[in-house]
Amino acid sequence: MRKQIVAGNWKMNKTYEEALSLVSEIDNMVKDEVNSQVTVIVAPPFPFLQSVGKLTQGNDLMHLAAQNMSEHESGAYTGEVSASMLKSVGVQYVIIGHSERRMYHHEDAQTLYKKLKAAIAQGITPIFCCGEPLEERDADRHFDYVGKQLHDSLSYLSNEEFDQVVVAYEPIWAIGTGRTASSQQAQEMHAYIREQLSRMFDAEAAFNTSILYGGSCNPGNARELFSQADVDGGLIGGASLKSRDFTDIIKSF
Ligand code: PGA
Repeated sequence: MRKQIVAGNWKMNKTYEEALSLVSEIDNMVKDEVNSQVTVIVAPPFPFLQSVGKLTQGNDLMHLAAQNMSEHESGAYTGEVSASMLKSVGVQYVIIGHSERRMYHHEDAQTLYKKLKAAIAQGITPIFCCGEPLEERDADRHFDYVGKQLHDSLSYLSNEEFDQVVVAYEPIWAIGTGRTASSQQAQEMHAYIREQLSRMFDAEAAFNTSILYGGSCNPGNARELFSQADVDGGLIGGASLKSRDFTDIIKSF
């Protein structure tokens, strides 16, 4: 069965105290107000993972994600964090290939493939991000662009490995800009992604893959986006830093 997922990507925001109060608020609101079977994920910065995870331990709906990880298992990689380290502090999901990492940290398709493999080997579910820049959409090349991103990083996985992957479609022109893809634009790209996945893996696996939308998703547009047949939830940036907004998005299914 395809999971409904709302994941909050906190990016490089919040101090330790602020992170703890944000997650406590979210945890309480989810306990009091959310009765559906949504998988709620929070992705705080590395130093806060363990404490945030401890705070949400008693809440079955809440899950912990990292925003990035190394493709290497261990060793002389100063500043890097491995999948097994994340696993050892209770991390269940990891965002791989966010456009900000592709852009500012030059992560290429092959590196992302290695990260996917490393996460899956530790039983951590990767949330694999794809999405086109504005010039590709304006030139009507967005399907090809996203198709290539999927192919170049995912197609080397086995069916069993792919079963663990969540995909997030995040058009770059919609990230942090206040400009959201229309529900129709999201649906047609999500359907395209699912079709590409069914060519690379078996059709059932593609059908069961959760595909999240990300890019200026907020309490005002989440319901419409999540009502689309191939939109299985959201990857939320800015609005995930406000407990009320994030919870309202979770309640939009
Ligand atoms: P945004 O970010 O919701 O602030 O647009 C989404 C993301 O980058 O995951």
